[in-house]
Amino acid sequence: MPDNFKLDLTQRPRRLRRTASLRAMTEETVLRPANFIAPLFVVEGKRAPEPIASMPGVSRLSIADLVKECRALAKLGVPAVALFPKLDAKLKDEEGTAALHEDGLILRAVRAVKQQVPEITVMTDIALDPYTTHGHDGVLNAARDDVENDRTVAILAKMAVLHARAGVDLVAPSDMMDGRVLAIRKALDAADFTGTGIMAYSAKFNSAYYGPFRDAVGSAKAAGTKLLSKATYQLGPGNRRSAIIEATLDAAEGADIIMVKPAGPYLDIIREVRMATRKPVAAYQVSGEYAQLHAAARLGWLDLARTRHESLLAIRRAGAEMILTYFAKDMAAELSK
Ligand code: PBG
Repeated sequence: MPDNFKLDLTQRPRRLRRTASLRAMTEETVLRPANFIAPLFVVEGKRAPEPIASMPGVSRLSIADLVKECRALAKLGVPAVALFPKLDAKLKDEEGTAALHEDGLILRAVRAVKQQVPEITVMTDIALDPYTTHGHDGVLNAARDDVENDRTVAILAKMAVLHARAGVDLVAPSDMMDGRVLAIRKALDAADFTGTGIMAYSAKFNSAYYGPFRDAVGSAKAAGTKLLSKATYQLGPGNRRSAIIEATLDAAEGADIIMVKPAGPYLDIIREVRMATRKPVAAYQVSGEYAQLHAAARLGWLDLARTRHESLLAIRRAGAEMILTYFAKDMAAELSK
């Protein structure tokens, strides 16, 4: 090539990346605190926060600390929290009966938050895994080789009504049983909770990225193995069309928001669900996605602040308007600097 080599180009896309202001003008996706939903873990009693080893920076909180955390999140502009209970092992049984206790931990947590931080949107998981000794999301059949779909749905519908009565804004069925969204919608309406919404874990994959979460709520320990298989109800990780079938069904059954989970390894699914429905789409950046960035950062292999920002930007760009993420608080703090 000669030294004075010149391309005869009309199109030079780099022109719009030349200065910081041009880059700002042409930015297609931005993150703001309102995009985030913070998942929080709650425990019984007046204990100090219990750190979760595989989720640096995340602790199980007493109800009093939970309320404080919700207040801090609201101040930072995070509009919503998703609450998960960690039950004492002695309250768990085969049938997950504690899920229907009138004064259960999660119900007291919801009431406390709604009373003391009324402006924050509160959602709760509807599934039996924190309550069952085996750690499955539903009750088991007689052979104990599968969950019993319809009997589980009947329990979940009752559970949703209890949560609505405690004041949640959104119930989030995370169990992947067939027909649960419609059953929950009908039960809520029959109990006059027409204003309580449903965020459906619609495309929830049978993912190994849930490992740290199962430590957090104790559902892995309960099952005696981390390899607890949820393959008969959660989606196969290679299945794209199955995900769209689930999302479409949940939308038709009355889900108000459709969720894809995990998020980062499933960006194609988020995009496709975004195209398949006009309802809002949420994505859950799960515990394992959070853990892997922290682990690499601890080793000095990745820059935590930049990779967490990029991971969340990618999820937004794929088409999720809201993201459940354990980075919610740190991100909101960073964005409001
Ligand atoms: C349980 C539930 C799980 C998560 C949210 N709700 C785990 C599972 O299905 O075993 C995972 C969240 C995470 O990994 O951060 N119904």
